[in-house]
Amino acid sequence: MHLLAPLLLLTAYLPTGYTAPSKWIHPGVMISQSQLDFVKNKVNSGQQPWSDAYNAMLGDKTMTPEHKPSPHTIVECGPYSDPDVGCKVERDDSLAAYGSALAWAIGGDKAHANHAIQIMDAYASTIQGHNNSNARLQAGWVGSVWARAGELIRYTDAGWDEDAIERFGKMLSNVYMPLTVNGTDQNVANWELAMNEAAIGMAVFLEDSASYNRAMELFKARVPATIYMKSDGDYPVAARGQSSDPDAIIDWWFGQSVFKENGQSQELCRDLEHTGYSFASISHVAETARIQEDDLYKTDIGTRLRYGLGFQSQFSNGKEIPDWVCDGHLNLTLGPVTEVGYNALSFRMGFDMPETKKWTLKERPVGTNGLFVAFETLTHAENPA
Ligand SMILES: *[C@@H]1O[C@H](CO)[C@@H](O)[C@H](O)[C@H]1NC(C)=O
Ligand SMILES: *[C@@H]1O[C@H](CO)[C@@H](O)[C@H](O)[C@H]1NC(C)=O
Ligand SMILES: *[C@@H]1O[C@H](CO)[C@@H](O)[C@H](O)[C@H]1NC(C)=O
Repeated sequence: MHLLAPLLLLTAYLPTGYTAPSKWIHPGVMISQSQLDFVKNKVNSGQQPWSDAYNAMLGDKTMTPEHKPSPHTIVECGPYSDPDVGCKVERDDSLAAYGSALAWAIGGDKAHANHAIQIMDAYASTIQGHNNSNARLQAGWVGSVWARAGELIRYTDAGWDEDAIERFGKMLSNVYMPLTVNGTDQNVANWELAMNEAAIGMAVFLEDSASYNRAMELFKARVPATIYMKSDGDYPVAARGQSSDPDAIIDWWFGQSVFKENGQSQELCRDLEHTGYSFASISHVAETARIQEDDLYKTDIGTRLRYGLGFQSQFSNGKEIPDWVCDGHLNLTLGPVTEVGYNALSFRMGFDMPETKKWTLKERPVGTNGLFVAFETLTHAENPA
C-alpha cells in the first residue's frame, strides 16, 4: 500500500500525448517547399502527369480573377446541406484560394497570388461563426483548406501584408479552431478526422503548440478506431466515447459483423465515398506531421492507412464484393483520395500497393471533391521530396 501510493501519484503527473515541434517548418501544411520545387520543375518542363494536372486546375472556373468570394457573417450548415447558408460557397471559395495559391507557387503569376489574398482577406474581415448540425464538419473541411492556402501564400513572398496575415490568423483561431480542436466523440470517423486535420493545419499556421498537441492526440486515437487490423482481435478498437461491446461496434460499423482482413474501414458499409474522406484526412495529417519532422507513415498509422487504401481500392477497381463484406453490396466509389498516401507509402517507401496504384492511376489527374480534397495529382504524384 505505502509503496504503491507514491507510484500512482507519479503516474498521474506523467506527461501523456503529443509533443509539438520545437521549431516549425514553413510552408508546412501538407506540402513543403521541396515538394513545391519538385512540382514546379515538372510543370515548367511540361512533364506528365503534373502538367495536365496543372492545366486542369487552371481550368476550374473558380480560378479566374473574375471569381469573387461571397463570405457570409454566419455560415449555417444543416444536415445534408439543409439549410445551406454560405456553406457550399465557403467550401468553393476556400478551394479557389488554395488552387490560386498553388498556381502562384508553381506557375509564378502574381495575379493568382492576388486572387488567393483577395479571397482570404474577404473571409477574414467578414465571417464570425458557423451554426446548425454540420457546423463542426464544415469548419473541419474549410479550416483544413484555409490552413494550406494561408501557409502557401504567407511563405512564398506573395506580398500578403502583415495586418492581413494577423486578421486571417485571428479568423482561424476564433472561428475555426474552437469548432475543431477537440474533435468529436459522436458521429462517424470522417467527421473527427476532418476536424483533426483542420486543427493540426491551422496550428502550424498559428504556431499553436497546445492545439497541435491536443488535435494530434485525438487523431492518433481515432485512426485505430477507423481502420481495422487483425492484430486488434475479433473486433475493431472502439472510438472515444464508444462502447466496445460487439453489438455496439457492429452498429457503429454500419452493420459489418465479420472482421478478418487488415484494412477494413468503419464507414465502408455506408459508402466508399465517406470512407475515402477518412483516408484523405489521415494522409493529409501524416504529410503535415512528416514535414514537421514526425513521420507518422513509419508508425502504426502508416500501416493502417496502407492496408485501408488497398482493401477499399480493390472494390473501387471493380472487384466482386464478397458476401462477408457489407452483405455483398457497396456504394461506390472511393473518389480522388489516394494520391497522397500512395505516394508516401508506395512511391517513397517502396511498399507494393497494386490495388491502390490501379485506382490512383485510373483517377488521374484528380481535381477536387468539392469539400477539402484538391489537386493531389499535381502536388503529390511521384513526388520524392
Ligand atoms: C444560425 O445563425 C443565423 C444568423 O444569426 C440564424 O438566423 C439562425 O437561426 C441560426 N441557426 C441555428 C440553428 O442556430
Ligand atoms: C477543449 O478541451 C479542453 C480539455 O477538456 C478544454 O479545456 C477546452 O476548453 C476545450 N476547447 C474548446 C474550444 O472547446
Ligand atoms: C447506399 O446509399 C444509399 C443512398 O444514400 C443508401 O440508402 C444505402 O443504404 C447505401 N448502402 C447500400 C449498401 O446501398
